[in-house]
Amino acid sequence: MSSYQSTFKQSVTDPATFWLEQSKQIDWFTPPSIAIQSDENGIERWFPDGELNTAYLALDYHVENGRGDQTALIYDSPVTGKKAQYSYRVLRDQVATTAGMLSELGVVKGDRVIIYMPMIPQAVFAMLACARLGAIHSVVFGGFAPNELAVRIEDAEPKVLLTASCGIEVSKVIPYKPMVDKAIMDSRWKPEHVVVYQRPEVQASLDQERDADWAALFEKATAHDCVPVKATDPLYILYTSGTTGKPKGVVRDTGGHAVAMKYSMSTVYNVSPGEVYWAASDVGWVVGHSYIVYAPLIHGCTTILFEGKPVRTPDPGAFWRVCDEYNVSVLFSAPTAFRAIKKEDPDGQEIQNYPMTTLRTIFMAGERLDPPTLEWVELHTGKPVVDHWWQTETGWAIATNPIGLESFVTKPGSATKPTPGFDVQILNETGQACAPLEQGFIAVERPMPPSCLATVWRNHDRFESGYLSQFPGYYVSGDGGYIDEDGFLFVMGRIDDVINVSGHRLSTGEMEEILGGHEAVAECAVVGAYDELKGQVPLGLVVLKDGYFSNQGDIEKALVKKVRDEIGPVACFHRAVIVDRLPKTRSGKILRRIIRQIADGESYTIPSTIDDPASLEDVSNAIG
Ligand code: COA
Ligand code: AMP
Repeated sequence: MSSYQSTFKQSVTDPATFWLEQSKQIDWFTPPSIAIQSDENGIERWFPDGELNTAYLALDYHVENGRGDQTALIYDSPVTGKKAQYSYRVLRDQVATTAGMLSELGVVKGDRVIIYMPMIPQAVFAMLACARLGAIHSVVFGGFAPNELAVRIEDAEPKVLLTASCGIEVSKVIPYKPMVDKAIMDSRWKPEHVVVYQRPEVQASLDQERDADWAALFEKATAHDCVPVKATDPLYILYTSGTTGKPKGVVRDTGGHAVAMKYSMSTVYNVSPGEVYWAASDVGWVVGHSYIVYAPLIHGCTTILFEGKPVRTPDPGAFWRVCDEYNVSVLFSAPTAFRAIKKEDPDGQEIQNYPMTTLRTIFMAGERLDPPTLEWVELHTGKPVVDHWWQTETGWAIATNPIGLESFVTKPGSATKPTPGFDVQILNETGQACAPLEQGFIAVERPMPPSCLATVWRNHDRFESGYLSQFPGYYVSGDGGYIDEDGFLFVMGRIDDVINVSGHRLSTGEMEEILGGHEAVAECAVVGAYDELKGQVPLGLVVLKDGYFSNQGDIEKALVKKVRDEIGPVACFHRAVIVDRLPKTRSGKILRRIIRQIADGESYTIPSTIDDPASLEDVSNAIG
């Protein structure tokens, strides 16, 4: 049996022994004696009697074990021209003082803290400071509008909200404080304190009693020690798009997460402590949580916080420059980032300027990796590319080429094999296993391995109904796909109302709710249409109420603005098209799949159940 096969087999036939063994790779305050146990909801929980602190593992442990002077964090910001490096010792001290600052504001274990910040070191200090106190952070991506922030404030009920005076997007400076003020005004829950890190580009006004200046508080604060927490205590809540307008608060257990992060660094990424690991993502997404902050630091690597884009900051050589300048061993980003580079530098000329001698492997995730992008990157960089598949819900790869165990010859379009711990099965509508090559629901047989969510924040029913009840004994991923005769997994896309735009996960259901809230809209449908650069972009089809036909152009513009105002620019909602009617079945179900096929110029089969076949022609003419 190959190394992968035997490891995988043990991980799914005897997960308790397998993961208890892996748990020894991290330094617990109280090591777990029990691997897995059902909680009051009947959900399997990892290491229930273990005690630890993630900030300790990420920082203090390394300082105590000889890595104090190694660089832990590199900050590289082409949008401001700033660069900085923090050793493990300095980073620990910054985090300990930030934790002291939060503690003096009354934050204690179990309290929530919302972090709405750009890609600056203070965002990383803040996350780790929460972990140090046992407080639960919830990072909100800067590209979300006040409404999205308000929804998260209301759900997480934070004691403190941490922010900065602005974010910087290429050449645009985006003031954050007015967005924070609006979000708090619109939310039923009000945080007690709003702490603002003032950046030189914008001075935010701190005109409310709850507002405080980060630097002033930090200067007075004293370092706070690590607070032991139970393995099953939450480390963070990260909201992600589901099928409805309300995002789901994915709750991450502390202990399982730390063990999985540590395990993944060697098995999935094949990277060693002391090496430089770079996830070119944002701390607002799960990739940023796991692979900018937690995993590289727990593993003793150097991590990079890059405040820039793959292109335009200043050119399509930015990624290669960073890899070369900091001796990066592993690079991880979304396919869309490489498509953006390829578009601006089709012959890969910038790559020639940077030898990148230490770079071994490039990982991609966040959306389907299209074979042309895979081939372009491999051809021009000469480095192997690993496509791996994962979700906010799991926090790490469900399928990968497990190069730390065994390197498979990959197949373009496939995320290769299930990662040890994930018993991936393809199920049909009735829950039976599909034959090789037969497409179905991608599910994971329970128990899920460490790090995967065990509930949705304060809404356990949503966890049960969204993931577990469709096929008893399985977690349903929301993606469809198949496994071929060689056991390679092909993820073909979402089977629900979720789309991936530039590797960002968004809900078309939410966009439909927003469009439907406009006074002129009778009904609507939003689908993810193919986009060469972003993978998918949302396209809205709208039927107007009687009496609203005269100002169609204005209404279309108002609808685009409404989605931008309520979700944020990151939604990339630029097109609302007015149609006379939507294609539906006789029972009233909107034929979204066919709308998408029309938008993508694909052929489609007209279902026998269609109510009005002429509606398809309407849609086709309107989309153009
Ligand atoms: N704060 C404020 N606004 C933001 C933002 C942030 N953190 N991130 C994005 N936006 C804005 C952009 O400025 C843009 O606004 P505009 O409509 O006014 O131009 C809009 O949101 C759309 O952004 P994006 O989809 O990122 O498009 P882009 O053209 O700016 O960049 C890419 C395209 C491909 C370069 C960029 O999306 C990218 O680097 N993607 C990598 C994906 C990634 O990190 N995924 C995470 C999982 S690995
Ligand atoms: P997120 O929760 O934002 O990480 O998005 C998770 C979703 O992104 C998955 O459910 C997939 O639809 C998609 N995804 C992530 N990685 C891949 C991949 N390697 N191949 C195909 N789809 C992917």
